[in-house]
Amino acid sequence: MAEVILRGVSKSFGATAAVTDVDMTIPDGAFVVLLGPTGAGKTTTLRLISGLEKLDAGEISIGGRAVKDETPAQRDVAMVFQQYSLYPHLTVRENLEFPLKSPILKTPKEEIARKVGEVADVLQISHKLENKATALSGGEMQRVSIGRALVRDPQVYLMDEPLSSLDAKLRTDLRIELKRIQASLGATILYVTHDQIEAMTMATHVGVLNAGRLVQYGTPREIYENPNSVYVASRLGLPRINILPGDLFGPAPKGAHQIGLRPEHVTQGEGREATVGRIERLGDHTRLHLSLEGHDIITLADPHAEYTPGTHVKIAPREPLCFDASGDRIY
Ligand SMILES: Nc1ncnc2c1ncn2[C@@H]1O[C@H](COP(=O)(O)OP(=O)(O)OP(=O)(O)O)[C@@H](O)[C@H]1O
Ligand SMILES: [Mg+2]
Repeated sequence: MAEVILRGVSKSFGATAAVTDVDMTIPDGAFVVLLGPTGAGKTTTLRLISGLEKLDAGEISIGGRAVKDETPAQRDVAMVFQQYSLYPHLTVRENLEFPLKSPILKTPKEEIARKVGEVADVLQISHKLENKATALSGGEMQRVSIGRALVRDPQVYLMDEPLSSLDAKLRTDLRIELKRIQASLGATILYVTHDQIEAMTMATHVGVLNAGRLVQYGTPREIYENPNSVYVASRLGLPRINILPGDLFGPAPKGAHQIGLRPEHVTQGEGREATVGRIERLGDHTRLHLSLEGHDIITLADPHAEYTPGTHVKIAPREPLCFDASGDRIY
């Protein structure tokens, strides 16, 4: 596997700047998750690395080679597309064998059979191997397209929301499998997701895109605990961080226009009186929706405690993050 480096990477489509001046180093063996809302430039970034899209400016290197003039095949990346694309006239088995049957690879027959069996097993589609690719559910098709990447041993895997159409249980299973595969192969993966749990549990690094710009890049913990803006703070964390006026709990910290309070950083028992609104019981924990001067505040609560809508609890902030008027972090 290989290190991937982006330097000053930009790409526009007509008047739309899809990706602007992105610098990012994906270390060998890293699992990098790209986060950002729709249209942020995530897919375009993957397509630029794979060679499906041409750069307007900047450089990309894979394993120390500048890849500007290389075709997608020469770059040796395996991409799982956001819209899965299988060969409809082939069976699941044939779809999985396809990448290994390339004349350049000359993979022995037994090796192909072994690899396909192994990957089908991991993806829980062994029983569908002889089905036509069209005779599958959406989630099964998505697994076959992940499988087509996993049978290979490329320089880097590029995965665009690969688990998005799967049910919760399969998603959890595959999340664990992907992480295991990544660790055992030492694979380098760039992975796009909107899923908070996937980002927090699988990533070694998280990159946050805002309108084509990489606005923060770090470990999931850094991004969660030390976001550099309201925008980044709001991308990780479920329930979302509470963004509140700087002076809601007393004089605002110097320059703080807004404060950010993670749900676990709202302490109960002292401070200002907030009104209890909705109570969401989720089994292992309870989410408490509070209201203070018309601001909604979500916090976590003891699942055994009783709360009644309309009653009051006292709350105070712990370790608030401070932001200026433009949403940038004040340290
Ligand atoms: N082929 C194209 N032609 C014109 N505009 C494009 C093209 N591909 C992407 N764009 C535009 O570039 C921007 C970034 O698109 P991109 O597909 O990278 O977003 P994304 O982050 O993957 O979003 P999503 O989460 O919806 O998949 C968008 O404004 C999009 O409309
Ligand atoms: Mg996309």
